Amino acid sequence: MINPKIEKELNNQINAELYSAYLYLSMSAYFESINLKGFANWMRKQAEEETSHAMKFYRYIIDRGGRVVLDKIDSPQKDWPSPLDVFEETYNHEQKVTSLINGLVDIAISEKDHATNNMLQWFVTEQVEEEASAGEIFEKLKVIGNDSNGLLMMDMELEKR
Ligand code: FEO
Repeated sequence: MINPKIEKELNNQINAELYSAYLYLSMSAYFESINLKGFANWMRKQAEEETSHAMKFYRYIIDRGGRVVLDKIDSPQKDWPSPLDVFEETYNHEQKVTSLINGLVDIAISEKDHATNNMLQWFVTEQVEEEASAGEIFEKLKVIGNDSNGLLMMDMELEKR
């Protein structure tokens, strides 16, 4: 049986992951609106990944005999000044998610919930990759600046995800 404090925190994390999915889908729609189909593809895949993260927490709460309670998801921003701004926000957002995951690990440890701590270690590893992939694109976009050829090349690369 899951401890009620952990159950509440994991439910909050479902909401955070679904908000991430919503945010990245909104970014994907922004890229569609400026005809950067590869960027839109990358963000749509990212949104799908966030939904799968939410579903890992969802399944885990149920497997531990807890109750999933879904809360409302905040509206995401819908426009950005440039692709660079989108990836700066993505990178910052992933760092925020990392700190949420670390906070959950701290709670699991203080509550002596070893199973939850073990489940969360997958997310600890995943966040290293999440930050690295968003950070890498952010750094490349800083170099590209306003060069439209560079942006189109990047768009072709992101289409492959
Ligand atoms: Fe679910 Fe991008 O972390």
